[in-house]
Amino acid sequence: RRIPLAGSGDEFDRLAETVNAMLDRMQHLMENLAAVGNEIAHDLRSPLARLRETLELALRDSEPSAAGAAIAEAIAQVDGALALCGAVLRLAQIETGARRASFSNIDLSELLDRLVETYETVAEEAGHRLIAQVPPCLAIRGDAQLLNQMFANLIENAMTHADGPARIGLVARAEATRVTVRLTDDGPGIAPDHRGAALRRFGRLDPARHRPGYGLGLPLSAAIAELHDAVFTLDDATQGANRPGLAVTLVFPASNAPRPG
Ligand SMILES: Nc1ncnc2c1ncn2[C@@H]1O[C@H](COP(=O)(O)OP(=O)(O)O)[C@@H](O)[C@H]1O
Ligand SMILES: [Mg+2]
Repeated sequence: RRIPLAGSGDEFDRLAETVNAMLDRMQHLMENLAAVGNEIAHDLRSPLARLRETLELALRDSEPSAAGAAIAEAIAQVDGALALCGAVLRLAQIETGARRASFSNIDLSELLDRLVETYETVAEEAGHRLIAQVPPCLAIRGDAQLLNQMFANLIENAMTHADGPARIGLVARAEATRVTVRLTDDGPGIAPDHRGAALRRFGRLDPARHRPGYGLGLPLSAAIAELHDAVFTLDDATQGANRPGLAVTLVFPASNAPRPG
């Protein structure tokens, strides 16, 4: 998505051009992410931080107007990009350095409970329902920050893409040597032959193109899962239904290590 130009050539148009050029550059760089993850995150971080500062100043100076709204939106987009850069940077650090050196024993139950607590209010305010079933003491090895990011991405996807008030389910379960987390919604879901596209960087399916987002949430989540040796699968939440909903299933290896803290 790009900021539309008014064609007046005034300072807001020039600002919009700068933002659009930056987004183009970001998109181009992100497309080569696989090859240069670490560099890109470093590359993008400071210019984006500067851009944000500029936009914030412009917003403070302007009258409440269409231009102001465009700038506010640009700030939100840049915030998203900064958050993504942070995540990519963390991922790159873990992958390049001592890959799992930063892993610790995670109480996944606690992590999920906290996340659900955060999102319950947000979801309800937007007309959704988030229903969680998380038994206590699910233990895995991992990076709490990345895990939080992954589950937040998935919950946000359910709220954004379910196309109306959604019923979002989060069910965690312990099996002998595994911990399974299944996130479901009752939206349109993703047809089997579109799943590959949805998992690709910048892959956004038709109805989603007008909604906020970069198309990086699912690929990033899949990468975080892989880093945790978790199997990440997309399927229908309710098979055969008219609106089958999306189910994202994560199967982690359980850690039977003593709990942290
Ligand atoms: N819960 C969902 N229900 C329906 N479609 C989804 C869902 N989650 C993701 N998608 C589709 O997959 C695409 C990619 O998701 P993602 O990588 O998170 O990008 P974004 O959310 O930024 O569009 C989305 O644009 C949307 O088309
Ligand atoms: Mg998303």
